[in-house]
Amino acid sequence: MSFPEGFLWGCSTAAYQVEGGNAGSNWTAWERKKRLEPCGPASNSWELWREDVRALQELHANAYRFSVEWSRVEPHPGEYDEAVLERYALQAKALRLAGIRPIVSLHHFSEPAWLYERWPQGWLTDAPVGPFLDFVERVSGALRGEVSDWVTFNEPMVWLLFGYGLGFWPPGFRRGLSLERTFVHNGLIARVARAHNEAYRLLKADNPDARVSLAQNMVDLEPARANVADLGALQAWDRFMHGHLLDLAKSAGTLDFIGVNYYTRIYVRSSPFFPMGVMPCYGELERALGHRLFHLLGGRRGGRALTDMGWEVVPEGLGRVLGRLHRAYGLPLLVTENGIADATGLKREDFLREHVSAMGDAMAQGADVFGYLHWSLVDNYEWGSFAPRFGLYSVDKDAAYKRRPANGSKLFTQIAKTNASCLATNK
Ligand code: BGC
Repeated sequence: MSFPEGFLWGCSTAAYQVEGGNAGSNWTAWERKKRLEPCGPASNSWELWREDVRALQELHANAYRFSVEWSRVEPHPGEYDEAVLERYALQAKALRLAGIRPIVSLHHFSEPAWLYERWPQGWLTDAPVGPFLDFVERVSGALRGEVSDWVTFNEPMVWLLFGYGLGFWPPGFRRGLSLERTFVHNGLIARVARAHNEAYRLLKADNPDARVSLAQNMVDLEPARANVADLGALQAWDRFMHGHLLDLAKSAGTLDFIGVNYYTRIYVRSSPFFPMGVMPCYGELERALGHRLFHLLGGRRGGRALTDMGWEVVPEGLGRVLGRLHRAYGLPLLVTENGIADATGLKREDFLREHVSAMGDAMAQGADVFGYLHWSLVDNYEWGSFAPRFGLYSVDKDAAYKRRPANGSKLFTQIAKTNASCLATNK
């Protein structure tokens, strides 16, 4: 299948995961506290960003989504580092000159440590909204003329769930059974939606032609059992993780498109043991509970091949998710992330081919998708570990962080070059 002219083929990264040297981030403090593998120099992209641009050129990419690190731009409250802003502007310009459209995320999980030193309750109060918007305004001004595509928040619901609900990520708050009360009734999601809406307005005021959205993690959901209770649980989880925030942004008119991060499907089951009475059957949950307990509690996984993250490979789920979003919102869609942790590299080609083809099917049925950004360009820091390998390029830390094409990069290049999905085997 051929894709429309001007279709975007590219990659996504996030500053904290690739740049290195972001010691002012709340993630660095968290790594120390939890004794996680330190991110440290990451993939050294702060130094080697030109290599990254070169890799994108080799891939024939015409788009690159990267994020701007808040703690680097504003190392102390109210103090902005102009040299850092200039460096991001230079990177965006170099991308543009290479025919690669820069798409910039403003919040990709990592936040300045000072934010939580000042306001330990973080986003449970209104305090971070103002500083976040000041940061957005600065970045928008610094990148004026270079960037017109923006993602305000990356996967806000994953960030909130892990950081403010389950305590897996900083700031480490656990809400347990009061998850829904904190997130929905006490307005945590609405606060983040407000921050997004205001950021949207700032970016549009700076450049009325800007295209602004957020990137929502979309999971292909299935009921664990074909009964009313599990279907109800699925709908509740879908509303909570996907719909609630998007509906708030849509009704405020602050979505020029929807950014879709798609990785896998999960089964959802009703269960009295989990917050909101919902058991979302992620691989992470199975790992945390152990196989036996997971199944005793009624957990279900499908029989598909697994990625190194333990996520099932379900390409047609991408098509379903795009179709559902198209029907529900009628907005243009951009696949802002899709990829596979695969240290052997042996599964990446099939993964890519099948997901691109599922996206093509959704488009043939009417979904208005204008681009596909693969996660990720280079191997990077996967929020606590370097073990998962998502890169179309591997990074050799022992050889001055040299980038080398990994399996999947050839196929990606072929797809981007021909602007067509490649069904024939390319091994
Ligand atoms: C996030 C990335 C992450 C990727 C793979 C997405 O949830 O936006 O930061 O590395 O998935 O886990």
